[in-house]
Amino acid sequence: MMDKVIMTDVTGRDGFQMEKEWIQTEDKVRIIDRIIASGIPRIEATSFVSPKAVPQMRDAKEVIGAIKRENIEVIALVPNVKGAELALEAGVDEVNYVLSISETHNLKNVKKTVDESIAGVKEIQKLMDSSRITVSLATAFGCPFEGLYNVDKILGNIETLTEAGLNRFTIADTTGMANPSQMTEFIAAITEKYPDHYFGLHLHNTRGMGLANLYAAYQAGLRHFDAALGGIGGCPFAPGASGNVCLEDVVHMFQFMGVPIDGELPQLINTALDMEKLLGRQLPGQVMKAGQSDKTHVA
Ligand code: COA
Ligand code: ZN
Repeated sequence: MMDKVIMTDVTGRDGFQMEKEWIQTEDKVRIIDRIIASGIPRIEATSFVSPKAVPQMRDAKEVIGAIKRENIEVIALVPNVKGAELALEAGVDEVNYVLSISETHNLKNVKKTVDESIAGVKEIQKLMDSSRITVSLATAFGCPFEGLYNVDKILGNIETLTEAGLNRFTIADTTGMANPSQMTEFIAAITEKYPDHYFGLHLHNTRGMGLANLYAAYQAGLRHFDAALGGIGGCPFAPGASGNVCLEDVVHMFQFMGVPIDGELPQLINTALDMEKLLGRQLPGQVMKAGQSDKTHVA
């Protein structure tokens, strides 16, 4: 049997953080609960960040307290020790500690040098077991301020963090700069060097290469992917950022390929349509517009 693909939904965090208009906590919770109910096994529901930096995430504690937690791993993004403390208090299963491969982006995003961010995660390791910390390596393939990278840059950071006792990483293409050839090369080099680490992949569809990159990474052996319902999202601190790869489009692709993956498509599509009404604009998701591949029309 083919290995199962495991999705992490990031609608509540990467998706909502990009929304300028305040979304009521109960609306956030409804969307997240519906995604959980459709069988997605991991949810990054919010972030514990400075409310001045990202006002939309200021109800993080309430969101974590309100969502229905059955058969679900609940994750929150944190940028510093304070965020990790608050996330633990709120009762998350796992923290996603973000640092950028790019010095320039790291300074803009979390106001720290990369070395300062690495020092920060070592402090968090004193608060919780490393098995509950995933480090997101943002701008892994390239940075909108610095340009495209080769794989040595991310390998150097993974090495430093591995020496610190960390072995869970999410490789993030924050502004959709990677192409499928680069993806194949990076994933092969990274997983060859660290075959026992956990690696997830976080992609944005900024240049229309999201699903192609995801499939290239799947072919190279990755099985853990982030995505957001309706394809919403983006980093407020990266120019030209746009949506994540779309959750229901990814689930649809793998289901129709016969690859095992959890997620009830009709429910996901209905929830994407619900969210489209909530946000009041057309969302980038494609299956939510076209329907599943096996939908037929009257001739
Ligand atoms: N959660 C809530 N509040 C926080 C916080 C956190 N994790 N970290 C800091 N704060 C508060 C401080 O208590 C302080 O509040 P005060 O002004 O009322 O005293 C204020 O924020 C400034 O704290 P400081 O430590 O000086 O932070 P900073 O101004 O240097 O900003 C970050 C650094 C990391 C807190 C901020 O840049 C941030 O939250 N970035 C997240 C960016 C993000 O979410 N990007 C998208 C996801 S990749
Ligand atoms: Zn992102």
